[in-house]
Amino acid sequence: MRHFISVNDVEDISLLVKEALTHKANPYLHKELGKNRTIGLIFLNPSLRTRISTQKAAQNLGMNVIVMNMDKEGWALETQDGVVMNHNTVEHIREAAAVMGQYCDIIGVRSFPRLVDRNEDYSEDFFNKFIKYSGVPIVSLESATRHPLQSLADLITIEEHKPKPRPKVVLTWAPHIKSLPQAVPNSFAEWMNKADVDFVITHPEGYELAPEFAGAAKVEYEQEKALEGADFVYVKNWSSYKDYGKVITMDSYWMIDNELLALTNKAKVMHCLPVRRGVELADEVLDGVDSLVIPEAANRVWSAQAVLAKLIRDNF
Ligand code: CP
Repeated sequence: MRHFISVNDVEDISLLVKEALTHKANPYLHKELGKNRTIGLIFLNPSLRTRISTQKAAQNLGMNVIVMNMDKEGWALETQDGVVMNHNTVEHIREAAAVMGQYCDIIGVRSFPRLVDRNEDYSEDFFNKFIKYSGVPIVSLESATRHPLQSLADLITIEEHKPKPRPKVVLTWAPHIKSLPQAVPNSFAEWMNKADVDFVITHPEGYELAPEFAGAAKVEYEQEKALEGADFVYVKNWSSYKDYGKVITMDSYWMIDNELLALTNKAKVMHCLPVRRGVELADEVLDGVDSLVIPEAANRVWSAQAVLAKLIRDNF
């Protein structure tokens, strides 16, 4: 594996889950693997889980870690080619990424979409340029269209808690007051479509994911019908892909509460966090015995550790 940008970079997702569970059972077994290697974690957007879990994972492998909040501490980056930089941008991504590649053996990058121009966001131009100009392995800490470290942690969590070999997993749209990216649901769908699960996506009409991410998943517009027999309910808001970046309905009755959860097969409830209580998920569910949100967040460490260990072994 040269980079970790999507599920397509992974040869065998079951093996990667197994590797993650090995790290979880014995976090410091490979504490020499990353010795004298440096990872740079570059954030252009806020983060709690990704920042801390990836840092901890790298430290467990003996790596040196540099964290940079590029949006606050770095020069304003230019990403377009051929522009005369006589406005606000100070440094071109060509130089910035190339310089970071001189300091770091691996670079993790978080860059959210602008949610204005679908073609621009879905081209993943920023990530592609970072890969091209840095010259080192790149790990996505969430891009415009994907969040693979989160999806791997989600799959680890499902593997640990599944009540049967092929569980029913339902990804349900949730209400929100803001326009959010499709990265988490896109990525979750992409990983679930490759996992041994019965995968269903439910959302109000107009929130269809891009076909390349929804893949062969069953789409069910009636949330109550979709929830029947579910073993896992994955809750997440996203804005419209079709009417790009728009909040087309608030539909507060889509919020998962105990009444909706009662339709499932005693489903465990997942959410990548951060979550807006009383908007996306009811308190009674988040605080209930079926919530997996904290173990799911804890698994972010083992997800990152498995990916970093694989990148070190494959590239150095
Ligand atoms: N789930 C997740 O990526 O959390 P952060 O945005 O806090 O990193």
